[in-house]
Amino acid sequence: MINKEMENALNGQVNAELYSAYLYLSMAAYFESIDLSGFANWMRVQFQEEQFHAMKLYDYIIERDGKVLLQAIDKPPSEWDSPSAVFEATLEHEQKVTGLINDLVYLARSEKDNATEIFLQWFVGEQVEEEDNVGKIVGQLKLIKNSPQSLFMMDKELGQRVFAAPTKAEGGA
Ligand code: FEO
Repeated sequence: MINKEMENALNGQVNAELYSAYLYLSMAAYFESIDLSGFANWMRVQFQEEQFHAMKLYDYIIERDGKVLLQAIDKPPSEWDSPSAVFEATLEHEQKVTGLINDLVYLARSEKDNATEIFLQWFVGEQVEEEDNVGKIVGQLKLIKNSPQSLFMMDKELGQRVFAAPTKAEGGA
């Protein structure tokens, strides 16, 4: 059985992950609106990843005999100045999420909830990967400085991304 404070905090993270999903879906719509369908595809995959994160927390709360309580999801922004601005906002958002995950780890530690602390390690590793992936795209966009030809090439590359749910060994359900 999970304690109330931990349960509330994990429910808060379900909401944060669903907001992330919503934010990336909005970014996908922005990219569609400027005809960068490869960038939009990348964001659609990101949307699926965030739903996966939310469901991983959702299932864990249930597994520990807790109760999932869903809250309202905030409205995400819908306009950005450029592809660079979108990915800079994404990096900033992921850094914020990393902070939230770390706070959950510290709470689990202070509550002596070993199971939750171990469960959260998957998210700690996932955040390293997310920040790294997004950081690379931010760097590439800086290099190409919105040159239409390079942007077109990058759009093709990002269009290749597909969502693959992690296997059990990788922390999947
Ligand atoms: Fe669920 Fe992008 O962190």
